Parts: sequence; C-alpha cells; structure tokens
Amino acid sequence: MKKISNAVELFKGEFQFKISANSISLFPKSQLPEFAFFGRSNVGKSTLLNSLTNQKKLARTSNTPGRTRGINFFQLENILSIIDLPGYGYAKISKSEIKHLSNLIHEYLISRKNLRKVFLLIDARHGPKINDIEIANFLQEFGINFQMILTKSDKISTKKLKQIIEFTNNEISCNLALTGEIIVTSSKENLGYDLIRKEIYKIINS
Ligand code: GTP
Ligand code: MG
Repeated sequence: MKKISNAVELFKGEFQFKISANSISLFPKSQLPEFAFFGRSNVGKSTLLNSLTNQKKLARTSNTPGRTRGINFFQLENILSIIDLPGYGYAKISKSEIKHLSNLIHEYLISRKNLRKVFLLIDARHGPKINDIEIANFLQEFGINFQMILTKSDKISTKKLKQIIEFTNNEISCNLALTGEIIVTSSKENLGYDLIRKEIYKIINS
C-alpha cells in the first residue's frame, strides 16, 4: 500500500460505490477497516458523505431510483470503506420494509468485525431525539465504537449551538475520552469535515 502521510491526502483518493446490500449475504467480504454513517432521514448524511469524500455525487449514486434500498458500501482504493446506513424515521416506507431494514442494520452493526467506528449524525437544530438515544444506547451496549456529529450548524446561532452540545452530551451519556468529542459540521461553511477525516486517518493508523 502506498504511504499516505496525512488525512487530507487520504481523502484525495477516489471512493467507489460497491453495492447497495439489502441482505446480509450481499455484504462485501472485505476485511478493510469500515466507518459507518448513521442518522435520521434528512439529517444531512448524503451531503456529509459527499463533502467528506470531495465527491459531489457519491452518496446520490446509490439513491438513484431503481436501486434497492439497502446498506451502501463505498470503498477507497485498497484502504478503507465508508458505509451509508439507511436513515431512520422516514415515514413513507412500509412497516415491513422498516422492519427488514432495521434487522439488516442491527445485523450489520453487531456482526461486522472490521467496523471501526459509527458516526451518529444528529441535526444541530433539534439535538438527539428518542430514536437517536436508543441507537446510542444500543451501540454502547454492544461495545460498538461511535462518535456523534451535529449537522447543519449554520442553521442556528453560536449560543444555541453551545446549548445543543451540552444537551446532547447530557442526553447521550458516553465516555467522551473513548468516543471523542462531538464533531460539529456545516455544508454551508465547510465545517467539521477535516475533523472526521483526521479521526478516520488516526484509527486506520492505530
Ligand atoms: P435522506 O437520504 O433522505 O435520509 O437524507 P440525508 O440524511 O441524506 O440528508 P441530505 O444530505 O439529503 O440533506 C437533507 C437536506 O438538508 C438537503 O436539503 C441538504 O441540502 C440540507 N443540508 C444538509 N447538510 C446541511 C448543512 O450542513 N447546512 C444546511 N444549511 N443544510 C444542509
Ligand atoms: Mg441521503
């Protein structure tokens, strides 16, 4: 593998869409370190993935109509993969599909040996909702490493942001030394993506 000396350089590489897996048997057999992104529908996941990877159309690729709704795998050369988990709280899909997807996500989260971290996205305007808290609890219960990201920070004042950070830390009590501090992002201000890149770089080199 070629030597990559920092996080910015790492993310200059090209991510390729691998598969949208809607059953466990379709998960790639890859042993590469994986980083999953998870959160409510409309939280800004696709936007974040596109900014993070410097590939404007990456996350949309997997959302083109006709492709099955599933867990999307994107691979960066022979280095790592990024996983786009289906968003939750979306009202327009059937109960049976919600059940199928949540089983699939649970299965992915608990069985994926190469999953190194889950980034849990939360809308900075609202802070964590009940299902975000349930997911954070689930991740902690199963010893899955995770870190919180507050998205759309440009939509609120600095004062409100401070309150939301505090509120989020209170609602989701976790060991910050272990998870890392909350990362604040904004697509409008191109904020926070370097911190995520650095975190990923740090983990794959640890
Ligand atoms: P689904 O795939 O539908 O679950 O949504 P998603 O979580 O992928 O959200 P998406 O990235 O599509 O963003 C939803 C909306 O929020 C879009 O209109 C984005 O332009 C907007 N958005 C995302 N991130 C930001 C941000 O940081 N700031 C602002 N102002 N808008 C944002
Ligand atoms: Mg999306």
